[in-house]
Amino acid sequence: TAALEKSRDLSEEHILITAGGTREPIDPVRFLGNRSSGKMGHALAEAALARGARVVLVTTASHLSAPGCEIVPVSTAAEMQSAVLTRLRSVTAVIMAAAVADFRPAHRAAHKISKSEVLTLELVRNDDILHHVVAQRSPGTLVIGFAAQTRDVLEEGRRKLREKGVDAIVANDVSAADRGFDADQNAGYFLTRQQETLLALSSKRVMADRILDGLRDLAANRTI
Ligand code: CTP
Ligand code: CA
Repeated sequence: TAALEKSRDLSEEHILITAGGTREPIDPVRFLGNRSSGKMGHALAEAALARGARVVLVTTASHLSAPGCEIVPVSTAAEMQSAVLTRLRSVTAVIMAAAVADFRPAHRAAHKISKSEVLTLELVRNDDILHHVVAQRSPGTLVIGFAAQTRDVLEEGRRKLREKGVDAIVANDVSAADRGFDADQNAGYFLTRQQETLLALSSKRVMADRILDGLRDLAANRTI
């Protein structure tokens, strides 16, 4: 039946998904982080698995369940980068839902910094993992990035689609409390070079299936 076919429509895919916010250590007890909960990436993993894909989930939120996925727990952007790049050759698609810290403290203090010390944090840029993924992928490996925006969601999404060399961008609005970071719902746009699809406000699980519909359509048009 059609319903059953849809439920297995990703059975040819082996999808690497990143999830959660990275944590960049300052000292043994403190970190720089962001508000990403990992729920969107985990919803994508669950939905992809249900549609027959093999899933490897590189996540900072390994406390969230993801039965049936290969879980790779990571914490920092550097750990996420090596986990992703070492597995890139074995997957057919990559979805970068994680909120990767753009900067990390230049030095990690060996011991807890006391409040009696003057603290000035020097930050250095993290590598852009997505950039390396696009550069190192095999022909035919699909790459979907996310763009978390608090304004100009569509325009910034279009810009990132153009500039990052990805097959699609999920542009989402993280400015309101009912959606995006840490919420159970999300909304945004699925942008490819061929089309722009509105992703109406819905549960992250429903939005995950819309994103995977987009992935399936891109896969159907693979030239390799
Ligand atoms: N990303 C990444 N490595 C980084 C930063 C971001 O792989 N060091 C990925 C994210 O997982 C996401 C995409 O790049 O899929 C876009 O992230 P975003 O923060 O929206 O874009 P940036 O290029 O970092 O731009 P800015 O934060 O300045 O808006
Ligand atoms: Ca960023």
